[in-house]
Amino acid sequence: MNEEILVCASDAVLEGGKGVRFAVTAGGADGTGFVVRYGGMAYAYLNRCAHVPIELDWAEGEFFESSGLYLMCSTHGAIYVPESGLCAGGPCRGGRLRPIGVVEHDQRIFWQPDDYVRPLVPKTPENLQPK
Ligand code: FES
Repeated sequence: MNEEILVCASDAVLEGGKGVRFAVTAGGADGTGFVVRYGGMAYAYLNRCAHVPIELDWAEGEFFESSGLYLMCSTHGAIYVPESGLCAGGPCRGGRLRPIGVVEHDQRIFWQPDDYVRPLVPKTPENLQPK
């Protein structure tokens, strides 16, 4: 089974509402991921525009544009399809947000690390030892 890391309670991520950010390491650089809900499903992506590698949310957790149909980069207005992360318009048309595995059970949402997007502090036996 893939590793699962708790993000938040399911009811903290409402349909088309605010997203919840979580800390990650992506390709060795500190960053954030985020989870949103669309069509009842939870989707998670690396919080990094496909156009210029900066965070999408203009205010913390604000990922949807006003119609609630697309995720939007606040800086230059690229819009992304919530289910796929594909850019549907704006400077990075044809680009894509980096998806992050997400699962939901027991009324909670978890993200799943992969080879590129890792937990901020790797869980190693050394880290668990008191210093
Ligand atoms: S940085 Fe996101 S659209 Fe340009």
